[in-house]
Amino acid sequence: MPDTLSVTDNRTGKKYDIAIENDTIRASDLRQIRVKDDDFGMMSYDPAFMNTAPVKSRITFIDGDKGILEYRGYPIERLAEKSTSFLEVAYLLIHGDLPKENQLEEWRTNVKMHTFVHENIKKLMEGFRYDAHPMGMFISTISALSTFYPEAKEIMDPDARRKQIHRLIGKVPTIAAFAYRHSKGLPYVYPSNDLTYAGNFLNMMFKIGDSKYTIHPTLEHALTVLYILHADHEQNCSTNTMRSIGSSYVDPYSSVAGAAAALWGPLHGGANEAVLRMLDEIGSMDRVPSVIKDVKEGKMKLMGFGHRVYKNYDPRARVIKKLADDVFEVTGKNKKLDLALELERIALEDDYFVKRKLYPNVDFYSGLIYEAMGIPMDFFPVLFAIPRTAGWLAHWQEHILDPEQKIARPRQVYLGQRGRTWIQIDKR
Ligand code: ACO
Repeated sequence: MPDTLSVTDNRTGKKYDIAIENDTIRASDLRQIRVKDDDFGMMSYDPAFMNTAPVKSRITFIDGDKGILEYRGYPIERLAEKSTSFLEVAYLLIHGDLPKENQLEEWRTNVKMHTFVHENIKKLMEGFRYDAHPMGMFISTISALSTFYPEAKEIMDPDARRKQIHRLIGKVPTIAAFAYRHSKGLPYVYPSNDLTYAGNFLNMMFKIGDSKYTIHPTLEHALTVLYILHADHEQNCSTNTMRSIGSSYVDPYSSVAGAAAALWGPLHGGANEAVLRMLDEIGSMDRVPSVIKDVKEGKMKLMGFGHRVYKNYDPRARVIKKLADDVFEVTGKNKKLDLALELERIALEDDYFVKRKLYPNVDFYSGLIYEAMGIPMDFFPVLFAIPRTAGWLAHWQEHILDPEQKIARPRQVYLGQRGRTWIQIDKR
C-alpha cells in the first residue's frame, strides 16, 4: 500500500499524489495544486494551529484522548513520584536522557553558579512601582538580561548556548523571588546555593531578617513536584512563541521574555490565578448550580476546565489533587477546596461538560496549593514560568538545531481590498 494521499481537484479534474509521513502530509506539497500555472498554489487554512504540526519534536509526548503525558518517554506520574529534584528533570528535558550521578552533579553546579543576578538587575527591579504586577516585572527583567550577556546572541556556538541555558535556569527563581519581595516591600534575599532548587526559591521568598527560615520538607517536596509537572507541555502557546521568536535567531533571553508574556494570558498560564478569582467570586456552595447554569448558557467559562489537547482528565491535575492533601495537612485546608471539588463533581456529571470532554486541567488545583502556601494570586503565573523555562529552552535548542526549520513566517488568506485609488482627505 503506497504511503500517499490521492487528491482530486474538482475544479480542474487533476489528480495529485501527496506523500504521507508519520500520518502527516506536508502543507507545502499542497502548493502543486493550482488552477493556472501562475497561481500561488493551495494552502491549508488553520486558525489557531488546530491541526498543524510546525515541528518534529522528541521532547514531550501527549495523548490527549488517553490523558498521557511523557517527557522524553518517561510518564509524568513516574517523574513526579521518583525524581527528587527538579534539576534532574530539567536535565532530562534539555539533554534527552536522565543524568548519571556525575552528570547531575556537574549540571547542578553549573546551574547554581548562575543563580545570582548582576546588582544592576536588582536596581532595575527596584525601579518598578510598588504595586507592579510580578509577572510584568519578571518578563521585563528576563528581557533585560540580554543586555548583560551580549554573547548570548551567539546561538550557534554550543558553549555560549549551554551557558545561557545554565544562566536562565539558575536566574529565573531569583528574579521571580525578587519580584515577590518587591511587591511586599521586603528586602531581596540572595540565593543560597546549598539548598535545593525549590528550597532556595522558598528561602528567597519567605526568609525574614537574619533568622534562619526553616523550609518545611513537605512544602519543598510539593513545590518540586509542581515544578516537575509544569516543566514542559509540547507545543502550547508559550512554547510556540519561544520557538517562533527563537526562529529569528535572537538571543534566548528575548525569546524567554516573549514566551513568558504568552504564558501570562488567562487562557494559558494565567488560568490558575483566574481559577482562584472565580472561586472567590462564587464564594459559597449554594451558588455553584447557578454558576454551572451561566457556564452552560455561555455567559462565562469555568476556569481551570478544558484543554486544547486533553479530552480526558489532565494527568497533571490528578497528581496535583493528591499533592494538595499533603500540603493542606501542613498549611491547613484551603477553604476554597470544597467549592472546587463540588464544581468538579457537578461538571463531571453534567452533559454539557461530558459532551465537550471538559475536564479539570493543571490549573484547577495548583492555585489552591499555592494560596495555602501563602503565595498571592498574581504571583501564580510567575511560579509557572520558573519550571517552564527549562521546557522552553529544550524546545528552543531543538528548534534552532533542526535543519528543516527556518524563520517562522506563516501565510495568510487575504480577504481585504486591493488596488484602491487614493482619495484626498476632504473628499472621503
Ligand atoms: N468552560 C465552559 N465551556 C468551555 C470551557 C470552559 N472552561 N472550555 C471550553 N468550553 C466549551 C467551548 O465554549 C466550546 O463549546 P461549543 O462547542 O458549544 O462552542 C467547547 O467547549 C470547545 O472549546 P474551545 O474553546 O473550542 O476549546 P479550545 O481548545 O479552543 O480551548 C482552552 C481550550 C483555551 C483551554 C479552553 O478550554 C478554556 O478557555 N479553558 C478555560 C481557561 C483555562 O483553564 N486555561 C488553562 C489551560 S491549561 C494551560 O494552559 C496550562
